[in-house]
Amino acid sequence: MRLNKYIAQAGIASRRKADELIQNGNVKINRMTVKEMGTEVQEGDVVEVNGREIEAVAKKPVYIMLNKPLGYITSVSDEKGRPTVLDLVADVDARLFPIGRLDYNTSGLLLLTNDGDMAYRLTHPKHQIYKTYRARVSGVLSRERINRLQNGVDIGGFVTSKAKVKVIKQGERSAIVELQITEGKNRQVRKMFAAVGNKVQELERTAVGELYLGRLMVGHYRKLTPKEIEYLKDC
Ligand code: URA
Repeated sequence: MRLNKYIAQAGIASRRKADELIQNGNVKINRMTVKEMGTEVQEGDVVEVNGREIEAVAKKPVYIMLNKPLGYITSVSDEKGRPTVLDLVADVDARLFPIGRLDYNTSGLLLLTNDGDMAYRLTHPKHQIYKTYRARVSGVLSRERINRLQNGVDIGGFVTSKAKVKVIKQGERSAIVELQITEGKNRQVRKMFAAVGNKVQELERTAVGELYLGRLMVGHYRKLTPKEIEYLKDC
């Protein structure tokens, strides 16, 4: 089994994070640091991450949908001691990690799992799954700005792909807008609106593909239904 998959199956990190751990020299096989991404783990090998021996055991996969509140970071730990999304799912008996990321100041739908493969697949750039955001933005969202958002805007060295935009309500000083994007660049929605001259004042993710937040209350979580899990596996 490839080393990154082994680490993910041990529930230590997603496969992508496992790659980082390997590159950063945090991983040893049989007491030797290994930095080769493609290394295979053989039967009987002793694998250590940060000095701790780990074992890839097939765990019962758990898939959770959380309505993330503002003021929580999407990470398994924070050096500044801020609350993390894991604090909200502390009573789930599994080593969960988030699939993708929401900013400290963004609320809404966040998926968590202990299934490293699933997390890896869904966050891979080749995945075209739509994420739906509801934003309150400053000012007026003119036709011209909507067109630019739809066709792609430069957010600093990266031009976004086609997006779907729906103005739910245009007030005098702000607008409520639904934006659907397939990519997940850092602070992408905020940067996209900034690029056309509207500042994001509030941001919530309401759906990931066909998975919807629905009536799930802020700060609460639920397990995905078998149908939802099937849907994600087919994505
Ligand atoms: N885009 C953002 O700007 N922030 C998020 O949290 C998610 C997408």
